[in-house]
Amino acid sequence: MKGVILAGGLGTRLYPLTHVTNKHLLPVYDKPMIYYPIRTLVGAGITDIMIVTSGPHVGHFLAVLKNGTELGVKHLEYAYQAKPDGGIADALLLAEDFSDGESVAVILGDNTTDADITNEVKRFHDGAVIFLRSVEDPHRFGIAEFDRDDPKKIVRIIEKPENPPSDMAVTGLYIYDAKVFPYIKGLKPSERGQLEITEVNNKYLDSGKLRWANLNGYWSDAGTFRSLYEANTYWAEKHGGDDE
Ligand code: G1P
Repeated sequence: MKGVILAGGLGTRLYPLTHVTNKHLLPVYDKPMIYYPIRTLVGAGITDIMIVTSGPHVGHFLAVLKNGTELGVKHLEYAYQAKPDGGIADALLLAEDFSDGESVAVILGDNTTDADITNEVKRFHDGAVIFLRSVEDPHRFGIAEFDRDDPKKIVRIIEKPENPPSDMAVTGLYIYDAKVFPYIKGLKPSERGQLEITEVNNKYLDSGKLRWANLNGYWSDAGTFRSLYEANTYWAEKHGGDDE
């Protein structure tokens, strides 16, 4: 399995910080943010990784990560997303040639977690796997709606619902087989003008090929000042003793 980290966008919600560098290179405690998703993939045995990025600071990634060997990456590729606000699915499409027919583990570059996805990576065969986590602010995420008669069965995923049908958020970690690329090519831009990963997941759901797992462990995105601050606090408390 190959790994794809989506690290594009302009990070406008973090201006003026993201005038300085790409959001995914901002510090989360003692490391650039993107170290965390790289470690999640490498920890699951995935060492062939593509980073999709965009915006005015793309050159900074090379300066920070170089060829990735310091982080255990065996092969690191970069792709440039010309349209930084094209959406997560649009960014993932750039990894089609890189994936070369293999399945891909995808992580959003601003998601930090200490969950171990090794088992899901090992047992993956085909279709898609999403990782869910209960959250306090479900209107901010893609949210799973469950069958009333079968509370483990997802009937739909709704992107940023006004009236969330549950508190189970779709985190920014996904595993897809190669069908993900034709699915993306069939998407139309959403109201916010993006190709939505939630619609990709709904296509797998419609074809009976979407599985979900609980993301066991800490998880946060870091796209707003509040979530960036909270991610910093968590990792500082977890690793804060290292310097002493
Ligand atoms: C994106 C996805 C959303 C998911 C979230 C996880 O939201 O669209 O479904 O729950 O990442 O971080 P966005 O970062 O585009 O607001």
